Amino acid sequence: NAGQAASASRYVFDELAAGNDETHHVADGYDAQILLRWGDPITADAPEFDVMNQTAEAQLKQFGYNNDYVGFVSLNDEGTHGLLCVNHEYTNEEVMFPGLGRQDRDGFKGMTPELIDIEMAAHGGSVVEITRDDAGKWSVVRDGKMNRRITPLDTAMTLSGPAAGHDRMKTNDDPAGMNVIGTLNNCAGGMTPWGTWLMAEENFHGYYWTDTLDSEGKPDLTGHSDAASKKRYGVPGMWYNWGTRHDRFNIDREPNAPNKFGWVVEVDPMDPTSTPIKRTALGRFRHEGAETTVSSDGKLVVYMGDDNRFDYQYKYVSDGSVSEVAAENSNLLDEGTLYVARFDEDGTVAWLPLIHGQGPLTAENGFNDQGDVMIDTRLAADLLGATPMDRPEDAQPRGDGTAYIMLTNNTRRKPDDVNAANPRADSSFGHIIEVKEDGGNHAATSGTWSILVKCGDPNISEVGAQWNPETSQNGWFGSPDNCAFDADGRLWISTDQGSNWGKTGKSDGLYALETEGEARGTSKLFFRCPVGGEMCGPYFTDNGETLFLAVQHPGTDGTKDLPGFERNSTFEDPATRWPDFDPAMPPRPSVLVVTKTGGGKIAV
Ligand code: FEO
Ligand code: CA
Ligand code: CA
Ligand code: CA
Repeated sequence: NAGQAASASRYVFDELAAGNDETHHVADGYDAQILLRWGDPITADAPEFDVMNQTAEAQLKQFGYNNDYVGFVSLNDEGTHGLLCVNHEYTNEEVMFPGLGRQDRDGFKGMTPELIDIEMAAHGGSVVEITRDDAGKWSVVRDGKMNRRITPLDTAMTLSGPAAGHDRMKTNDDPAGMNVIGTLNNCAGGMTPWGTWLMAEENFHGYYWTDTLDSEGKPDLTGHSDAASKKRYGVPGMWYNWGTRHDRFNIDREPNAPNKFGWVVEVDPMDPTSTPIKRTALGRFRHEGAETTVSSDGKLVVYMGDDNRFDYQYKYVSDGSVSEVAAENSNLLDEGTLYVARFDEDGTVAWLPLIHGQGPLTAENGFNDQGDVMIDTRLAADLLGATPMDRPEDAQPRGDGTAYIMLTNNTRRKPDDVNAANPRADSSFGHIIEVKEDGGNHAATSGTWSILVKCGDPNISEVGAQWNPETSQNGWFGSPDNCAFDADGRLWISTDQGSNWGKTGKSDGLYALETEGEARGTSKLFFRCPVGGEMCGPYFTDNGETLFLAVQHPGTDGTKDLPGFERNSTFEDPATRWPDFDPAMPPRPSVLVVTKTGGGKIAV
């Protein structure tokens, strides 16, 4: 057809029209099926979801809230049976619980102890066995032996690497500093080459509480231990009031507790009794994701963004080489080097090692050992002169030594602060950087970089967007967040505009973005979210026939600025009731499975 013939893009599908309404849309010729919704029972003994009578006990056996990262471990050669690994980043009380309304973060007037525990049980992750039938339809294997929930309420974890056992990790319930209960704010993530799942802990600071407030009602860190570190990490954020019920989220009672979060957690989805491990060698920051690759010389490399305005892009390189034998890889995430990126004006990138005793990372500057360097990764990276970025979200490496880095937006960057790698002040729409590591080796400590696209509307000159002119009015986007490669090494981008929807008039969605040849920089819209939902996942099975997508917080973000919606959602009056459209059910974050009608690879 005309749309395909006009473009050198390798993505063969008819582009979807941009817009926004109460439901999801996928390009013609594809099926998008709801696979898992918040509250769906995922163990044999789990109760059915009863939204008016929720309990923490039930939620611990049901699919959690705000699905973000989606990974898949195949259990057969055909890729038609496997384990879905899903992060549950956070919760939205106003649409989860009846009669609560939007929570005033200073008051939390409606949040009872039971609701706090339900929220905690709705965070974390899920492992769910799924299978595809002969007609191509996927379903949940409810009694799957590997099915499990991982939560901040009750999942015991261990610590490994340089910060394990450190004095600053010791708490009243863990005098050895070797253990922690739970993981939270798990945003994007990754799968390792040996089939384990990496859950990134992002905005952990928001879960800490204090009763010591200054005259303006803000947390007063005077007299608190590690005040400079807490300030750099934004602890305590007081976004949730869990610390009023659980001491481990209250810095007045447990001053070291925040040091146990902000890590990357490794989970073995094949063993439901396995204890997740927080791998402290990968540093402590607001980890957006943790996508892995094997370098040309056999090392494990993990690309990781610190999603905060003016924070940094990191990568980790293992000392040892990746083995075909899974058990031989157990030290790769403990023994290695963490690097932070400096993007130079001449188009080169230098990866600066965070190693105690090297350069400024000494006791004189507050770093007594490698454990301190990892606990205070941000402070160490500040001293090394890393490049402050426009909120590094997901970063995706490809086997050929290339990586794509999503910079989602940064409206606080002033004209005086711009640099070549972050070239726009007041950036509402973000950009994407392509890195080519020297020698095609992901373990290299230097490489080159270029900007693939500058996002936003190409028809508004003040926006300063940069797309391939082949990109249509439907195809341009703002605020890249998660990304993935498909089976053919082509890039797909999902967006999270937050409350910025009013600036584009488009819902969040999934876009196919060409990186090669004359079509480089051409974007096409493939899927779009229901109003107020953020696009997460995406994940392609190895055979390229199945695409998992996650719609996070449908009905919430930005709806008050959208014509036809113009209100903040509540349980009783949400902007959409996707995906059930049942007047008794609020909107539910859900994972979808997308396949080509009649079968075959997607967009080929
Ligand atoms: Fe949870 Fe940076 O998005
Ligand atoms: Ca994200
Ligand atoms: Ca990704
Ligand atoms: Ca985001």
